[in-house]
Amino acid sequence: MNAFELLTLIKSRRTCYQFSDRPVEFAELDNCLEAAIWAPNHKLTQPWRFWVVSEAQQKALAETYAKLRAESRAEPNSENYQMIYDAAVEKFLKIPKMVLVGQVLADDELVRKEDYAACSCAIQNFQLMAWQMGMGVQWSTGPIIKDNHTYQQINADSQQIELIGVLYMGHLKGDCSTQNGKRKPLSEVVFGL
Ligand SMILES: Cc1cc2nc3c(=O)[nH]c(=O)nc-3n(C[C@H](O)[C@H](O)[C@H](O)COP(=O)(O)O)c2cc1C
Repeated sequence: MNAFELLTLIKSRRTCYQFSDRPVEFAELDNCLEAAIWAPNHKLTQPWRFWVVSEAQQKALAETYAKLRAESRAEPNSENYQMIYDAAVEKFLKIPKMVLVGQVLADDELVRKEDYAACSCAIQNFQLMAWQMGMGVQWSTGPIIKDNHTYQQINADSQQIELIGVLYMGHLKGDCSTQNGKRKPLSEVVFGL
Protein backbone atom coordinates (compact mmCIF):
# COMPACT_ATOMS: atom_id res chain seq x y z
CA MET A 1 0.00 0.00 0.00
CA ASN A 2 1.48 3.36 -0.97
CA ALA A 3 1.08 6.64 0.91
CA PHE A 4 -1.81 7.78 -1.25
CA GLU A 5 -3.69 4.51 -0.70
CA LEU A 6 -3.13 4.70 3.04
CA LEU A 7 -4.38 8.28 3.15
CA THR A 8 -7.40 7.30 1.07
CA LEU A 9 -8.19 4.47 3.50
CA ILE A 10 -7.90 6.78 6.49
CA LYS A 11 -9.96 9.53 4.88
CA SER A 12 -12.68 7.28 3.51
CA ARG A 13 -13.41 5.42 6.75
CA ARG A 14 -16.68 6.53 8.31
CA THR A 15 -18.60 5.57 11.39
CA CYS A 16 -21.45 3.32 10.28
CA TYR A 17 -24.84 2.90 11.84
CA GLN A 18 -26.44 0.38 9.49
CA PHE A 19 -25.15 -2.99 8.46
CA SER A 20 -26.13 -5.69 6.02
CA ASP A 21 -27.31 -9.08 7.31
CA ARG A 22 -24.11 -10.74 6.14
CA PRO A 23 -22.38 -12.27 9.15
CA VAL A 24 -18.92 -11.16 10.23
CA GLU A 25 -16.58 -14.11 9.74
CA PHE A 26 -14.13 -15.25 12.40
CA ALA A 27 -11.15 -14.44 10.12
CA GLU A 28 -12.42 -10.91 9.53
CA LEU A 29 -12.80 -10.24 13.23
CA ASP A 30 -9.46 -11.85 13.93
CA ASN A 31 -7.77 -9.44 11.48
CA CYS A 32 -9.37 -6.43 13.18
CA LEU A 33 -8.28 -7.60 16.62
CA GLU A 34 -4.78 -8.38 15.39
CA ALA A 35 -4.54 -4.86 13.96
CA ALA A 36 -5.82 -3.45 17.25
CA ILE A 37 -3.15 -5.03 19.45
CA TRP A 38 -0.35 -3.54 17.34
CA ALA A 39 -1.31 -0.04 18.41
CA PRO A 40 1.34 2.08 20.11
CA ASN A 41 1.25 1.89 23.89
CA HIS A 42 3.63 3.53 26.34
CA LYS A 43 5.85 1.10 28.28
CA LEU A 44 4.11 -1.75 26.50
CA THR A 45 1.30 -1.78 29.03
CA GLN A 46 -1.03 -3.31 26.40
CA PRO A 47 -3.97 -1.99 28.40
CA TRP A 48 -6.71 -3.15 26.02
CA ARG A 49 -9.05 -6.07 26.54
CA PHE A 50 -11.68 -7.20 24.05
CA TRP A 51 -14.81 -9.19 24.60
CA VAL A 52 -16.36 -10.61 21.46
CA VAL A 53 -20.04 -10.68 22.34
CA SER A 54 -21.73 -14.06 21.89
CA GLU A 55 -25.30 -14.44 20.66
CA ALA A 56 -26.52 -15.15 24.19
CA GLN A 57 -24.66 -12.13 25.55
CA GLN A 58 -26.06 -9.95 22.77
CA LYS A 59 -29.59 -10.99 23.79
CA ALA A 60 -28.87 -10.09 27.40
CA LEU A 61 -27.22 -6.80 26.45
CA ALA A 62 -30.19 -5.97 24.21
CA GLU A 63 -32.38 -5.91 27.32
CA THR A 64 -29.99 -3.59 29.13
CA TYR A 65 -29.71 -1.36 26.06
CA ALA A 66 -33.48 -1.21 25.59
CA LYS A 67 -34.16 -0.54 29.27
CA LEU A 68 -31.68 2.34 29.40
CA ARG A 69 -33.02 3.78 26.16
CA ALA A 70 -36.67 3.54 27.18
CA GLU A 71 -35.98 4.95 30.66
CA SER A 72 -34.30 8.00 29.18
CA ARG A 73 -37.16 8.68 26.79
CA ALA A 74 -40.46 7.66 28.41
CA GLU A 75 -42.35 7.17 31.65
CA PRO A 76 -41.97 3.65 33.08
CA ASN A 77 -44.99 1.37 32.41
CA SER A 78 -46.28 3.69 29.70
CA GLU A 79 -47.21 2.50 26.22
CA ASN A 80 -44.47 4.69 24.82
CA TYR A 81 -41.91 3.02 27.11
CA GLN A 82 -42.84 -0.41 25.77
CA MET A 83 -42.71 0.78 22.15
CA ILE A 84 -39.26 2.30 22.60
CA TYR A 85 -38.09 -0.80 24.48
CA ASP A 86 -39.28 -3.22 21.78
CA ALA A 87 -37.82 -1.14 18.94
CA ALA A 88 -34.50 -0.90 20.78
CA VAL A 89 -34.30 -4.67 21.29
CA GLU A 90 -35.01 -5.23 17.61
CA LYS A 91 -32.39 -2.67 16.56
CA PHE A 92 -29.75 -4.10 18.88
CA LEU A 93 -30.31 -7.70 17.80
CA LYS A 94 -29.86 -6.73 14.14
CA ILE A 95 -26.26 -5.66 14.71
CA PRO A 96 -24.19 -8.43 13.13
CA LYS A 97 -21.30 -8.36 15.61
CA MET A 98 -20.19 -6.40 18.63
CA VAL A 99 -17.00 -6.17 20.63
CA LEU A 100 -16.71 -4.58 24.04
CA VAL A 101 -13.43 -2.81 24.66
CA GLY A 102 -12.05 -2.39 28.14
CA GLN A 103 -9.07 -0.60 29.56
CA VAL A 104 -7.09 -2.21 32.36
CA LEU A 105 -7.08 0.45 35.09
CA ALA A 106 -3.57 1.34 36.23
CA ASP A 107 -3.15 2.84 39.69
CA ASP A 108 -1.19 5.82 38.43
CA GLU A 109 -3.23 8.65 36.93
CA LEU A 110 -0.75 9.49 34.16
CA VAL A 111 -0.47 5.85 33.13
CA ARG A 112 -4.27 5.67 32.98
CA LYS A 113 -4.36 8.64 30.68
CA GLU A 114 -1.72 7.19 28.41
CA ASP A 115 -3.46 3.82 28.47
CA TYR A 116 -6.71 5.40 27.34
CA ALA A 117 -4.80 6.97 24.45
CA ALA A 118 -3.33 3.57 23.58
CA CYS A 119 -6.76 1.92 23.68
CA SER A 120 -8.08 4.64 21.38
CA CYS A 121 -5.27 3.92 18.91
CA ALA A 122 -6.17 0.23 19.09
CA ILE A 123 -9.78 1.01 18.28
CA GLN A 124 -8.76 3.11 15.31
CA ASN A 125 -6.54 0.29 14.01
CA PHE A 126 -9.53 -2.03 14.40
CA GLN A 127 -11.80 0.35 12.51
CA LEU A 128 -9.36 0.87 9.66
CA MET A 129 -8.85 -2.86 9.21
CA ALA A 130 -12.61 -3.40 9.19
CA TRP A 131 -13.05 -0.66 6.62
CA GLN A 132 -10.34 -2.11 4.40
CA MET A 133 -12.30 -5.39 4.42
CA GLY A 134 -15.60 -3.75 3.47
CA MET A 135 -16.99 -3.51 6.98
CA GLY A 136 -18.07 -0.53 9.02
CA VAL A 137 -17.81 0.11 12.73
CA GLN A 138 -19.57 2.40 15.17
CA TRP A 139 -17.49 3.12 18.26
CA SER A 140 -20.15 3.79 20.85
CA THR A 141 -19.70 5.14 24.34
CA GLY A 142 -23.42 4.84 25.03
CA PRO A 143 -24.84 4.06 28.48
CA ILE A 144 -24.58 0.25 28.27
CA ILE A 145 -20.83 0.43 28.78
CA LYS A 146 -21.39 2.05 32.18
CA ASP A 147 -24.05 -0.39 33.34
CA ASN A 148 -23.31 -3.09 35.93
CA HIS A 149 -25.26 -5.68 33.95
CA THR A 150 -22.80 -5.30 31.08
CA TYR A 151 -19.86 -5.90 33.40
CA GLN A 152 -21.66 -8.94 34.83
CA GLN A 153 -22.33 -10.36 31.36
CA ILE A 154 -18.61 -10.47 30.58
CA ASN A 155 -17.51 -11.19 34.10
CA ALA A 156 -15.38 -8.06 34.35
CA ASP A 157 -14.59 -6.26 37.58
CA SER A 158 -15.22 -2.52 37.24
CA GLN A 159 -12.51 -1.85 39.81
CA GLN A 160 -9.95 -3.33 37.43
CA ILE A 161 -11.42 -2.74 34.00
CA GLU A 162 -13.20 0.25 32.55
CA LEU A 163 -15.30 -0.38 29.49
CA ILE A 164 -14.42 2.43 27.10
CA GLY A 165 -16.50 1.45 24.12
CA VAL A 166 -18.61 -1.02 22.32
CA LEU A 167 -17.78 -1.55 18.68
CA TYR A 168 -20.85 -2.32 16.62
CA MET A 169 -19.81 -3.77 13.31
CA GLY A 170 -20.91 -5.42 10.13
CA HIS A 171 -20.63 -5.37 6.39
CA LEU A 172 -21.62 -2.12 4.78
CA LYS A 173 -25.21 -1.47 3.85
CA GLY A 174 -25.67 1.47 1.55
CA ASP A 175 -23.33 4.40 1.72
CA CYS A 176 -22.19 5.71 5.08
CA SER A 177 -19.37 7.66 3.48
CA THR A 178 -21.28 10.93 3.32
CA GLN A 179 -22.06 11.03 7.04
CA ASN A 180 -19.60 12.98 9.17
CA GLY A 181 -17.18 13.19 6.28
CA LYS A 182 -16.08 16.69 7.08
CA ARG A 183 -12.93 18.04 8.65
CA LYS A 184 -11.52 21.53 9.12
CA PRO A 185 -8.80 22.25 6.57
CA LEU A 186 -5.19 21.81 7.66
CA SER A 187 -4.74 25.59 7.54
CA GLU A 188 -7.08 25.93 10.56
CA VAL A 189 -5.51 23.31 12.78
CA VAL A 190 -1.85 23.16 11.81
CA PHE A 191 0.62 25.90 12.62
CA GLY A 192 4.00 26.38 11.02
CA LEU A 193 3.56 24.17 7.96
C1 LIG B 1 -14.20 8.53 22.11
C2 LIG B 1 -15.27 8.40 21.06
C3 LIG B 1 -16.56 8.13 21.45
C4 LIG B 1 -17.57 8.00 20.51
N1 LIG B 1 -18.84 7.68 20.92
C5 LIG B 1 -19.82 7.58 20.01
C6 LIG B 1 -21.13 7.23 20.42
O1 LIG B 1 -21.41 7.02 21.60
N2 LIG B 1 -22.08 7.13 19.47
C7 LIG B 1 -21.80 7.33 18.15
O2 LIG B 1 -22.70 7.23 17.33
N3 LIG B 1 -20.55 7.64 17.73
C8 LIG B 1 -19.56 7.76 18.62
N4 LIG B 1 -18.30 8.05 18.21
C9 LIG B 1 -18.01 8.20 16.77
C10 LIG B 1 -18.01 9.69 16.39
O3 LIG B 1 -19.29 10.24 16.54
C11 LIG B 1 -17.51 9.79 14.96
O4 LIG B 1 -16.19 9.34 14.90
C12 LIG B 1 -17.59 11.23 14.45
O5 LIG B 1 -18.91 11.63 14.23
C13 LIG B 1 -16.82 11.42 13.14
O6 LIG B 1 -17.33 10.54 12.16
P1 LIG B 1 -16.41 9.50 11.40
O7 LIG B 1 -16.00 8.44 12.39
O8 LIG B 1 -17.30 8.94 10.33
O9 LIG B 1 -15.26 10.25 10.85
C14 LIG B 1 -17.27 8.18 19.13
C15 LIG B 1 -15.96 8.46 18.75
C16 LIG B 1 -14.96 8.57 19.69
C17 LIG B 1 -13.55 8.86 19.26
